[in-house]
Amino acid sequence: MARPLTAHINLAAIKHNYDLAKKLQPKAKAFAVVKANAYGHGAVQVAQYLDETVDAFAVAAIEEALELREANVQSPILLLEGVFEASEWQVCEDFNFWVAVENDTQLEGFLAANIKLGKIFLKIDSGMHRLGVEPNNVAPYIDKLVSSENLGELVLMTHFSSADDLASSATPEQLTIFNQARSQFPDLETSVANSAATLKWALPEGGWIRPGIMLYGISPFDDISAQTLGLKPAMTLTSKVISLRDIADGEAVGYARAYVAQGQSRIATVAVGYGDGYPRMADHQTPVLVNQNVCYISGRVSMDMITLDVTSLPYTQVGDDVLLWGEGNPVEVVAAHSSTIAYELVTRMTGRAKRQYHK
Ligand SMILES: Cc1ncc(COP(=O)(O)O)c(C=O)c1O
Repeated sequence: MARPLTAHINLAAIKHNYDLAKKLQPKAKAFAVVKANAYGHGAVQVAQYLDETVDAFAVAAIEEALELREANVQSPILLLEGVFEASEWQVCEDFNFWVAVENDTQLEGFLAANIKLGKIFLKIDSGMHRLGVEPNNVAPYIDKLVSSENLGELVLMTHFSSADDLASSATPEQLTIFNQARSQFPDLETSVANSAATLKWALPEGGWIRPGIMLYGISPFDDISAQTLGLKPAMTLTSKVISLRDIADGEAVGYARAYVAQGQSRIATVAVGYGDGYPRMADHQTPVLVNQNVCYISGRVSMDMITLDVTSLPYTQVGDDVLLWGEGNPVEVVAAHSSTIAYELVTRMTGRAKRQYHK
């Protein structure tokens, strides 16, 4: 017997979503962004499955890239934040990593390291103001990099702050700034698009897109569902009812007695909690499916358990199937009821929920 909490990972759905990204930007090459353990889905399993499909993988940092090489992943891997220490440059050459360069230390580090790299992605700060070279200071970086005999190809890259907001002027403004910065270097390839930009913005053709969240079947937009976008959810989190009780009108459930029964009520306890990554902030309208029927969280989420009001589902029994998010109950909806975003929910799933991979 084991605790019945399981994150089912549909690898074929991830491939479907990657293929959709390529279909939407047919002239572009596409990274599969698998940082943060493939947004909680298991970087090794996802990358091994996609290795022969993708143009390249992207991760945040060298540890994540090494984990993939140790698992025999062969595709090129880009370090989206570049290197953090000078000693990493040699490792990048040894393991054939591509590297982002976004500041002076990284530029000088690469030039001093005297190692060969297939590609460097020079990141330009077009308005996000988090990483990247000042747009009016791009030329000296490019000059130094293209004159290095150790570099195969230079790609110019930027990242959008607000591509998920289709009404915002930020994305066209950032594109204008990026295009101005690269206007003297029209022959260099570019990389600008995350999932939201891949799905909905008019982009320069070609180059490299960098879809992340959409690969996992999650919509980056508040008001457009994943289903409408043609995405298939990759993670379905399931558990089981482990206890049942009837309580009288006015009785309360759980910590701080936060849920008070309106009439005679049936309460089901389910094996999942914030110790697994289920959000403690989930409110009393957060949907949960019991035997595919919707009911709602009642009471505070505890470390290992949640409680549901199943009064409207009178045939509920101990051992019944519970679907917390995924197929039929979008994680985006659960996130909206928990004052967060779906990115956070899937990424912070702990190892306590066993992962089961389905092809
Ligand atoms: C530089 C960069 N590119 C691409 C992505 C993928 O973004 P998304 O998951 O929104 O597609 C990220 C994610 O944060 C990123 O930092």
